[in-house]
Amino acid sequence: MAYTVTPRPGILSINPYVAGESRLDGKTRIIKLSSNEGPFGPSPKALAVMADTAQFANFYPDGSAAALHAAIAERFDLDADLIVCGAGSDEILSMLCVAYAGPGDEVLYCEHGFLMYPICAHAAGATPVTAPETNLTTDVDALLAHVTDKTRIVFVANPNNPTGTYLPKGEMARLRQGLPTNVLLVIDAAYAEFVDHDDYCAGAELVDAGQNTIMTRTFSKLFALGGLRVGWAYCPTEIADILNRVRGPFNVSSMGQAAAIASLQDIEFQDKSRRHVQEWRAKTEAALQGFGLKTTKSSANFVLVEFKDGATAESCDGYLRDMGIIVRRMASYGLPAYLRISIGTGDDMDACIGAIGMFLKGPL
Ligand SMILES: Cc1ncc(COP(=O)(O)O)c(C=O)c1O
Repeated sequence: MAYTVTPRPGILSINPYVAGESRLDGKTRIIKLSSNEGPFGPSPKALAVMADTAQFANFYPDGSAAALHAAIAERFDLDADLIVCGAGSDEILSMLCVAYAGPGDEVLYCEHGFLMYPICAHAAGATPVTAPETNLTTDVDALLAHVTDKTRIVFVANPNNPTGTYLPKGEMARLRQGLPTNVLLVIDAAYAEFVDHDDYCAGAELVDAGQNTIMTRTFSKLFALGGLRVGWAYCPTEIADILNRVRGPFNVSSMGQAAAIASLQDIEFQDKSRRHVQEWRAKTEAALQGFGLKTTKSSANFVLVEFKDGATAESCDGYLRDMGIIVRRMASYGLPAYLRISIGTGDDMDACIGAIGMFLKGPL
């Protein structure tokens, strides 16, 4: 007898995440600036341990990721017992929704927040709710105004993807203070390493200050290990305990653990990558502004640029694709007139900026 299995409520409301493309038909040389990845490949130290670890791939990894917890704790001056690792920070966002939100609950985030937040909320059966931003920046008052007695989790990416804007530490503390104590504040600091403002804090202090704030971080951006899927959370004991119940027993691969530890030790690689991003972020924003385009002031490893309208952004995207350059269209984030451009190598950025300049000049 024919029958169908039915997913839980909310699952069919998910718009599957569309990742940045990496291929274009008929093009052999691609410049991929669509997924905020590291432009230089992984650290040479990480590559060396990956080769060493490969021969032991028949063994399960250390399920407690003890050496990685210790390395993260030492590098960021945190308590190793309060760290939980995930298969990318995406997995942690998802585990948090599964553990703390369900049918009838609300998960709150900003208007142009990271698209994994509604996906994770729906997957848990909860209702995603958005609060408006001001000047493409998280608005604490708007978030607080959207809290109801159903709100369970507030996600704030700081800096935010895709806007690149950041919230100073005083504002984040004001948000925490204004939230009811039974609401979990998740500070998603995937791009923390690229911020160059004195009034920024990635979130550890707020985690230490109470029972209901957590900070998530990733090895996918500055540490350039996106393909290995390693992320982590710094959280109060109670939340670490819950996440350790929910997560898969071997959720971070042995190669991922080893490469992440080696990357943490490669300070030279980190400094070089950070300096490169900061330098090219400023150059790219200045060049685009020189063309008469508006950009946000990004604190992350990408820039967000506004075109006259959605049609112009779309045709610029098409023009770039014809030249083998892939950036990210922003219609799915409610920003149809914008393109997001990840910071690639200097040559990649010169090519991309040059191509946008040519596009704007129009046909000769
Ligand atoms: C704001 C934000 N959070 C989390 C992630 C997830 O990163 P990962 O799962 O690679 O750690 C991303 C990735 O682009 C992001 O932009």
